[in-house]
Order: sequence, then C-alpha cells, then structure tokens
Amino acid sequence: MYTTFETLGVTPGDIILEFSYLVAAVFFVIGLKQLSHPDTARQGNRWAAAGMLLAMITTLILHRDGTGSGIQSTNIIIILITIAAASVAGAYIARTVKMTAVPQLVSFFNATGGAASALVALIEFSNPGNESVLVTLLGLFFGSISFSGSMIAYGKLDGKIGDIFAGFMKYLNIFFMIVILTIIVYVMAGDATFEVNRMLVYALLAISLIYGVTFVMPIGGADMPVVISLLNSFTGIAAAMAGFIYNNQAMILGGIFVGSAGTILTVLMCKAMNRSLLNVIVGAFGGGGAAADKEAGDVKEITLSDAAVLLSYSRKVVVIPGYGLAVAQAQHVCNEMAELLEEKGVEVKFAIHPVAGRMPGHMNVLLAEAEVPYDNLVEMDDINPAMPNVDVAVVIGANDVVNPAAFDDPSSPIYGMPIIKAHEAKNVIVMKRGMGKGYAAIENYLFYHDNTRMLFGNAKNTLLDLVNEIKSL
Ligand code: TAP
Repeated sequence: MYTTFETLGVTPGDIILEFSYLVAAVFFVIGLKQLSHPDTARQGNRWAAAGMLLAMITTLILHRDGTGSGIQSTNIIIILITIAAASVAGAYIARTVKMTAVPQLVSFFNATGGAASALVALIEFSNPGNESVLVTLLGLFFGSISFSGSMIAYGKLDGKIGDIFAGFMKYLNIFFMIVILTIIVYVMAGDATFEVNRMLVYALLAISLIYGVTFVMPIGGADMPVVISLLNSFTGIAAAMAGFIYNNQAMILGGIFVGSAGTILTVLMCKAMNRSLLNVIVGAFGGGGAAADKEAGDVKEITLSDAAVLLSYSRKVVVIPGYGLAVAQAQHVCNEMAELLEEKGVEVKFAIHPVAGRMPGHMNVLLAEAEVPYDNLVEMDDINPAMPNVDVAVVIGANDVVNPAAFDDPSSPIYGMPIIKAHEAKNVIVMKRGMGKGYAAIENYLFYHDNTRMLFGNAKNTLLDLVNEIKSL
C-alpha cells in the first residue's frame, strides 16, 4: 500500500505552509547577512520584512489547528484589522520620530515583542492541548522581563527615568531569581492541581515583570548598552519559545535569529565595556559612585580660524563622533569637512567606539547616512595604537567614550571601560555646546588637558562655520 499525504493526515496546504516557513527563514538569513554592511543594510531590511510578510500571509491562509480546521473568519477579520492598525501606527511613528529618539523607539519595539510573547505563553498555559509546559513558562519569564525591562530602558534613554541604585537591589534580584526558578521547578514537577499551577503562573508573570524593573533600574551611566543588547536577546528567546508552543517554524527560527544576534551583541558590548555578563544579570554594576573630585584647571578655547589652520596643515586627523553628533544632526557637514581636508592631502579617519551614541552601531548608521566611506571608519582597538601619531583628534559631541577617567580614576563609575585615547593625540579639538556631562554624568578631564582646545557651540553650526573657514584658506 502506498503512503499518501492523506494517510499521514497532511494536506498539500500543510506542505506549502511549511515550505513557505523555510523560504521565510532563508529570507531572514539573507536579510541578516546584508544588514551587516551599510551598503546592503537597507536591502537586508527588505529581505527580512519580505520573509515575515510571506510567513504571515501563508499562516493566515493555510494554518490549521489540531482539529484540522483553519483560522475562523471572525478571527481573520480581527487579525487583519489589528495588522492594519498596527501598520499605520508603526509607519507613522517611524516617519515622524526624531533621529535622536530612535534608540528609545527601538527599546519600545523590543518591549512590545516581549509583551506579545509573554501573552502567548500566558494564554496557552491554560490550553489543554499545550504539552510544552517548560517552554511556556520560559516564554512567560523571558517575555515579561523583556517587556518591563525594555520599558524602563525606554524611560532611561528618553531621560524620563534616572538611575535608582540601592545596594540591596543586588540581593533583591538574586531573591527574585530564586523565587522564579522555584516556581518553574514546582510547576514542572506536576504535583499541584491545575488551579494552583494557574495561580503560580500569574505569580511568575508578576515577579518576572517586577524583576525586569529591578534588573534594569540600577544599571547606571555607561553600562546601558550591555543591558539593551541583553533585553534584545531575551525578546528573541521569548519569541522562539512562543514558536515552540505553536510548533511554528518561522517563529522559532525568527526568534532564534534575534536571540542569537542579541546574545552575540551582548558579548561584544560586555567586551567593549569590559564588564562580565554575570554582573549584568545580577544587575549589580554601574550607577551609584561618582568620580572623585580633583582639581580640574581651566579649559582653553580655540578660534574657528585657528582650528581651520591646524586641521588643514595636519597630516593625520581622526574624527571621534559621539551622541552630540546625532543630536546636532551634523553628520553630513562632518563628512563635508573630512572631504575638504582630504582634498588638501590630509588623511582623515573616523574612530568608532562600540557604545558611542545611544544604540549599538549608532555612529555607523549616522555616518553611513552621510555617505562617509566605510573604509574610513576605524574600530577603537585599531585606532588607539596609532593615536600618538595623530596630529589632531577632533571630538564631535563625544564625552564618555573619550573620558580618561576610565583608566586613571579607580573611583569613577566608568573605570575599566575601554575608551578611544583622544588625549594621546598631539592636539585635541573638542566640539560641544558647553561643559555639559555625558550619559554617565561624570566630569571629563580630557577637556582640561594641555593639548585640548574647546570649540563651543552646536556641532552642526560649528562645523558649518569651520567648513567655510577651511574653504577660505
Ligand atoms: P555622551 O557621553 O552621552 O556625550 C555626548 C556629549 O554631546 C555631551 O557631553 C554633550 O555636551 C554633547 N552634545 C549634545 N548635544 C550636542 C550638540 N547639539 N552639539 C554638540 N555637542 C552636543 O556621548 P558618547 O561619548 O557618545 O557616549 C555614549 C554614552 O551613552 C556612553 O556612556 C554609553 O555607555 C551610553 N549609552 C550607550 C548606548 C549604546 S547602545 N550605544 C545606550 C545607552 C547608553 P554639551 O551638553 O556640553 O553639548
């Protein structure tokens, strides 16, 4: 007797659906690969979006539940209305958001991903057909932490929430972790009645939500990048768990891609910040301490014309961009200055600190938008050894990432964080509006160094004036 699809209980629609998930996964991989280079990043976004669209359409048309029936027409209508409303809202937000608010928007989107996965787990726990108890509990745990933690990160990046650090929080977080693990083990043991388990699942939801808050709240100053990447990976893990609950290959693969990309980024950020991942998970570092006050001395300013002469007659110039460049939206005129100097025979490089700005890759995105050639971007570890041979380091809206307190002040909250060693250049020009502090809210003694000159003003206006000065030479 021949085995047919029908005898296996599989319809051609099921096969097309599974195949479409495979195609979607291939699209995700192509998208991720292309996202890793500025020239192809936009195209990569389109590939990944196309993969997601394909998976959504085929699921809506071909998905069948355990009884073999497709999605009910009323549910399809609700789903389509929700998708349409969310697409309009998403397109509006993406079009109107200020460039400087993109990091907090990314955190907000991450929070919604976590919330969606947590809700899937919460609803499906009571579903008698759901046999993946551990996966459901883990989905609830990771999704909830990722939601509440990302909302706190959103508030912090937006300046609405400050760092709240109390020594006891470290122990509180360990206590929450123990309670969460106990609940998961107890429910898994299967000794309790369904009602008790349901109460425990609600308790797990509540404690995970609170843990997300107490975990991100104390992360202070310059340590946020690590936690942002970690939350990103949590959302991916939660989405993969939701995929396992529904046995949906596209969700599993999409979640795994996001989770592993977030985990790789977390490891890179830990390396960039010289922090251990264990400290991040316990939520025990950062915040609190302030750099010891020491005699700062005076800052010395430089005029636009002197800055133009110094730059034009240099051999090697390194531009060190930071968050202020994004605030001022000065990336285009910054590139114009670099091109002008190159025409005069000056070698210009852009030194990129992995946590400059407010989101991973912030400076790369900004400079790519201004069409700064990718080859002119140099990683921190590659530029630092060459710094003593650099004639002028031009610090534009950067602060923490060039703060020498990171290696010469053990009392500083950023002590141990690798920095771009601008202070080792023969001359340093710092462009910023005033003596405002950076994200870590600590003094930067680079501004008082003998070889440092300040060029105060909004970075865009300063650069526009500087470009005119260079042209007039
Ligand atoms: P920051 O240390 O935040 O310093 C930015 C500086 O830009 C400020 O001191 C400010 O000084 C200046 N500025 C602001 N607006 C300006 C404008 N319009 N024109 C000129 N200057 C302007 O930046 P950074 O060096 O890039 O360091 C990033 C920090 O953010 C690190 O501590 C990092 O850990 C943290 N962080 C990063 C991320 C990620 S994932 N990258 C996420 C969260 C937090 P004035 O006010 O005097 O102008």
